[in-house]
Amino acid sequence: MSLLIDNIGELVTNDDGDGLLGLRRDVALVADGDRVAWIGPRRHAPAADARIDAGGAAVLPGFVDSHAHLVFAGDRAEEFGARMAGEPYTGGGIRTTMAATRAAADDELLGNAARLVAEMRRQGTTTVEIKSGYGLNVADEARSLRLARELTSETTFLGAHVVPAGHDPDDYVALVTGEMLDACAPYSKWVDVFCDRGAFDGDQAREILTAGIKRGLLPRLHANQLTEGPGVQLAVEVGAASADHCTHLSDADVAALAGSQTVATLLPGAEFSTRSPYPDARRLIDAGVRVALATDCNPGSSYTTSMPFCIALAVRDMRMTPAEAVHAATAGGALALRRDDVGRLRPGAKADLTVLDAPSHLHLAYRPGVPLIRTVLHNGVAQ
Ligand code: NIG
Ligand code: FE
Repeated sequence: MSLLIDNIGELVTNDDGDGLLGLRRDVALVADGDRVAWIGPRRHAPAADARIDAGGAAVLPGFVDSHAHLVFAGDRAEEFGARMAGEPYTGGGIRTTMAATRAAADDELLGNAARLVAEMRRQGTTTVEIKSGYGLNVADEARSLRLARELTSETTFLGAHVVPAGHDPDDYVALVTGEMLDACAPYSKWVDVFCDRGAFDGDQAREILTAGIKRGLLPRLHANQLTEGPGVQLAVEVGAASADHCTHLSDADVAALAGSQTVATLLPGAEFSTRSPYPDARRLIDAGVRVALATDCNPGSSYTTSMPFCIALAVRDMRMTPAEAVHAATAGGALALRRDDVGRLRPGAKADLTVLDAPSHLHLAYRPGVPLIRTVLHNGVAQ
């Protein structure tokens, strides 16, 4: 089955074209099966089985949301309300969600995660990473990842989210690196640790990441969200694909990222929902750091599924240009997941894309809060 998307006013390729976004104008794109088969001037477009008229609108690669915590039960709306009335965010609410998650049946957890993936899809996200981290025992972490695997191949073992109440931290690290890793590794591509105040320190995080790497998992890290600390430089040290949050950075942290292959994944939904200062994307980009944007969707610090919302925040409050933000939400996310088949549109790439209700990518930040995703193609199929 082939599909012609005709009359594209502006195509963001992140590949061959003008500027950072590889923009091409007045083109057509043909998808064959789940892949992009052809991009070129409209008048040369080959015949296809079906046709969508983009009507001069902008077409983008589907968003790559490289950081989300979707396997959980319940919500923490009351905690959000209290925070907006002045309570600080500490991450302590993770234990509240843990209790609800452990008590939930498989179909409840899978149904909730599937609902959030569908919500993401409607807003243009075609690749999503899903972490465990609300089970925090062997059975519930393994269950979380088994369920996540039903929704994505980008699964992340985050048994080291926090130390559950009543556990000795050293004993818990031993559990995570031993029996829990054994049970979770078969369902996981990635290993992650919340390395921050109130969670795990640098030595604990190194031990857990190293154990995961030995089991064939690839490292990524929650780093420097709440305070400056060892996370970012540890991420670089272990060759992590991504250091996530990067809100509180020293000059040495920025220099370490700039000299590395580690992407800085910025999560402005978390700063929005915890009323914290945003990370300084400009400082990172100007230093040569590669940047991704993701939602961090979770019931505590960032209960949004919307990449367009994150793009708008990044442009308004993180000193990113609209082009940089769109690039970070597509090609940047792909880099943070070490994927070259998504996040850009060129022959051979996955036919994952969005048609906007707008003539240019600029409108995503220019028209915040407006549902601008008209059509989503995932694996070559209109959703
Ligand atoms: O990325 N920082 C750690 N984990 C999540 C928050 C989880 C929660 O509060 O439930 C985050 O922000
Ligand atoms: Fe997170």
